[in-house]
Amino acid sequence: MKDHDNFISRRDLLRCIAGAGIALSLSATATIAKAAGAQLVSVGAAAKFKKNEPQKVTLPGNKPVFIRRIDSKTIIAISAICTHKGCTINWNAEGFKFICPCHGATFTPDGKNISGPANRPLTVAPTVLKKGNVLVDAQLF
Ligand code: FES
Repeated sequence: MKDHDNFISRRDLLRCIAGAGIALSLSATATIAKAAGAQLVSVGAAAKFKKNEPQKVTLPGNKPVFIRRIDSKTIIAISAICTHKGCTINWNAEGFKFICPCHGATFTPDGKNISGPANRPLTVAPTVLKKGNVLVDAQLF
C-alpha cells in the first residue's frame, strides 16, 4: 500500500460530510480558516444572506456557488456545478431543492443528491464570518 492510499482530500471529506447530512459547526468554520493553502474570498455581508434563501455568487475561476444561511450563526457554501455532467444548477424555492436544468437531477438544500442521474452530492463547505462578511475558501470548489 502506498502512502497516498490512506489520504483523503479536504474536498472528499467535505463531500462525505454533505452526504451524511451532518450539520457543519462553527468549530469546523474556524478550522477551515486555519487550513494551509486556503484562498478565502469575500462573497458579501452576512446580513444579505437570508435563512434558507440560497444566493448564487461567482468565485474566482468562474466557479458558481450558492451561499445558504442555515441559522443565525451558520452559513454554508454549496457548489452550483451538477455532479452528473457539470451543468449549473438552479435553486427552486417552491420545491425547496436544487434542480439541474440539463437532465433533471435534484439535490437537497444541503447538497445531497436525491433524484435523477447525479449519483454524488454537491461539494459543500463551511464559510468563515469575519467582520460581518462571509468568506469562502475558493480552493474547495
Ligand atoms: Fe445535471 Fe446531467 S448535468 S443532471
